[in-house]
Amino acid sequence: MKEGSHVIVLPFPAQGHITPMSQFCKRLASKGLKLTLVLVSDKPSPPYKTEHDSIAVVPISNGFEEGEERSQVLDDYMEIVESSIKNSLPKLIEDMKLSGNPPRALVYDSTMPWLLDVAHTYGLSGAVFFTQPWIVSAIYYHVFKGSFSVPYTKYGHSTLASFPSFPMLNANDLPSFLCESSSYPYILRTVIDQLSNIDRVDIVLCNTFDKLEEKLLKWVQSVWPVLNIGPTVPSMYLDKRLPEDKNYGFSLFDAKIAECIEWLNSKQPNSVVYVSFGSMVVLKEDQLIELAAGLKQSRHFFLWVVRETEKNKLPENYIEEIGEKGLIVSWSPQLEVLTHKSIGCFLTHCGWNSTLEGLSLGVPMIGMPHWADQPTNAKFIEDVWKVGVRVKADGDGFVRREEIVRRVGEVMEGGKGKEIRKNTEKWKELAREAVSQGGSSDKSIDEFVSML
Ligand code: UDX
Repeated sequence: MKEGSHVIVLPFPAQGHITPMSQFCKRLASKGLKLTLVLVSDKPSPPYKTEHDSIAVVPISNGFEEGEERSQVLDDYMEIVESSIKNSLPKLIEDMKLSGNPPRALVYDSTMPWLLDVAHTYGLSGAVFFTQPWIVSAIYYHVFKGSFSVPYTKYGHSTLASFPSFPMLNANDLPSFLCESSSYPYILRTVIDQLSNIDRVDIVLCNTFDKLEEKLLKWVQSVWPVLNIGPTVPSMYLDKRLPEDKNYGFSLFDAKIAECIEWLNSKQPNSVVYVSFGSMVVLKEDQLIELAAGLKQSRHFFLWVVRETEKNKLPENYIEEIGEKGLIVSWSPQLEVLTHKSIGCFLTHCGWNSTLEGLSLGVPMIGMPHWADQPTNAKFIEDVWKVGVRVKADGDGFVRREEIVRRVGEVMEGGKGKEIRKNTEKWKELAREAVSQGGSSDKSIDEFVSML
């Protein structure tokens, strides 16, 4: 691809997808490409430039009026989003061609496989971007091919699944939709469909790195033109020394963020448990109360992200009762927090971005997976990468306060914690190596740039 070539990047409209794909845009811009990041939203606005001259953002409509009640049924919602993108994207591509800035490729989110045909129809190469690891996509692929059948329930611990180069998986280690097919028929179809046309895709990108999924990668690369380009964590966080000028994409004047960092500054190294469930997980009220009790009982400080909409589930007077022991915020600058010396471990829902962030920044993890790919990520965190533990749930999936206290103690204090800490150092180094100049992910990005 020529210097200054133009690529369109189109993420699925959710935080866990927009973040890694926009970070990928920045990496491509640093290699001399021009990028158009298309953001699907109910607030379409004129295109604007970012702080990077070579990245333009074009917000397009998701098919809904601003503030309009979205369809409760995901099937209907996605149908409207799909037809809205199919309406506006071709015109956008044609306009770019006319303006002398023709795009060469469309990098699109794997959850929207129909974008491959749009790319090909308009003469662009199609590069699919997976925001989840191969360990998950490989399972979905086996389901798509019919070589693995979906177990009836995820709590049937006796059901075991075996995949080449995987540890043996229990039913509750599998991506949740596979076991709860009846509750989420549309999502199940979407996650399986991601693999439906992968054999025709020009380039397959994934936010992971070669060493992390080494065994599986041999097979994956033998069937598809795969380039692992992660972790997409900004390299300034992966470097041991942070630059003086901390322009991390948020304003340090934001009072809430400053409060978070000041509170952490007042604590001893490795003394705080950071607790976050990402941007989508909604805990049931009884589970949130139980977690609150567990954190309060544990012997450690905690910084807990409880979204504004969830705060009403906290026990009465909880914030007053925990006092200095805990800080509750509605959103945190997660990378800034994870690199803070006061953080001793990360209690996470194991969303793939959070998992990669914890692993690449060397933070021991306690996995409390909720749904989607999270149970599988948690299994690998505990048994394969050995950078954390996973809480044990009761038969109905409920995690008791004693289990929270036990796991926090195990990781923050115990001999197992030391073992885990040693492993996190190893993975932190390997992640940094992958994205450094000449590392496997850096080379993959170079290959992508030169391929089209
Ligand atoms: C979703 C799915 O849940 C996840 O399983 C899938 O792999 C990606 O899409 P989400 O639940 O939001 O994502 O979790 P995650 O993938 O961990 O992404 C959350 C992102 O938001 C992370 O990059 C994290 O750094 C950021 N975040 C989260 C913050 O910056 N501050 C917060 O307070 C919470």
